[in-house]
Amino acid sequence: MPSKVIGILTAGGDCPGLNAAIRAVGKAAHRLDMQVIGFLDGFTGLVENRTVRLEPSRLSGILTSGGTILGTSRDKPHRMPLGDGSVVDMTPRAVANYDRLHLDALVCLGGNGTQKNANRLAKKGLNIVTLPKTIDNDVAMTDVTFGFDTAMSTAAEAIDRLHTTADSHHRVIIVEIMGHSVGWLTLGAGIAGGADVILLPEIPYRVDQIIDSLLERYRKGKRFSIVAIAEGAKSAEDDEPSDKEETAPSSAVRLAAKIHALSNLDVRVTVLGHLQRGGSPSPADRLLATRLGTFCAERIAAGESGIMVAARGDCCEAVKLSHVAGKTKYVPVDHPWIRSARLLETCFGDGRMG
Ligand code: F6P
Repeated sequence: MPSKVIGILTAGGDCPGLNAAIRAVGKAAHRLDMQVIGFLDGFTGLVENRTVRLEPSRLSGILTSGGTILGTSRDKPHRMPLGDGSVVDMTPRAVANYDRLHLDALVCLGGNGTQKNANRLAKKGLNIVTLPKTIDNDVAMTDVTFGFDTAMSTAAEAIDRLHTTADSHHRVIIVEIMGHSVGWLTLGAGIAGGADVILLPEIPYRVDQIIDSLLERYRKGKRFSIVAIAEGAKSAEDDEPSDKEETAPSSAVRLAAKIHALSNLDVRVTVLGHLQRGGSPSPADRLLATRLGTFCAERIAAGESGIMVAARGDCCEAVKLSHVAGKTKYVPVDHPWIRSARLLETCFGDGRMG
């Protein structure tokens, strides 16, 4: 008989590195004499008791694969959709299934929404341990989340490719990058890809400042520009409720319309979308997911719960889940990455140089 039984689920948007993390938690758990049960499709599988036994053989060959072998969803136990638009609190069902399977702990792999939902279950008495995953890199109290590095590489490669066609046609190309309400992905990919303008939710932009910087490039003999804009970026003017263009679906489309209306520049838009969530995890994400996952299994074997396993330098550390839940890690406007970019004359749309 194994000494402990643990459950594991992946919730929220998927990202590269989830399978590497499942593998790490699972294989280390087996080594530490624990049995592992996977719940399918996020918290829905916990509520509906849809499970799969994660034997070591099921954990082999998944280190490099994207997505999640468990499936995922954005459903929350306390607001499960009934299909007719109404929701119902299924927390008691989740707790009952946890008890029925005699789980010693439940591992939840997810971003900010998952940290909150997992913390709600911890308050109901479940032994919860979470891992920080998301391409957005916005989970508090961890240096970084897995999925971020891969998505940053994908977005940077896209910017590389857009450079050549922008150059040939002497165009401005606006590339929209995911990240929900934070700018980490746009900032990292924008700098790595050499974007000329980088627009983040944390720094409201002015369209006239962007046009000035694009025209200045033309004056200097540069015949194209790349603008990297976060999906959550907003112009300072967007704060005014009368702005009709605010209803446009995409931040890049909104900005392109404004630039077009105020200048003669030839502008095109590329929205990277879910491309950024797909594909095989980068070596850095495989390594991070493996470090976090194995540390997680060790903490559970030691009897710990109510924690998120965070990345701290080369090490991992357990931080209180209640301290993480409900927080968002925004890009500080004086972050060193921003300082570096400003020194290279990258425009952030706020009129500041250097
Ligand atoms: O949180 C990850 C993320 O990809 C965000 O960057 C984006 O805003 C959101 O998920 C998209 O969600 P969905 O896949 O549900 O459309």
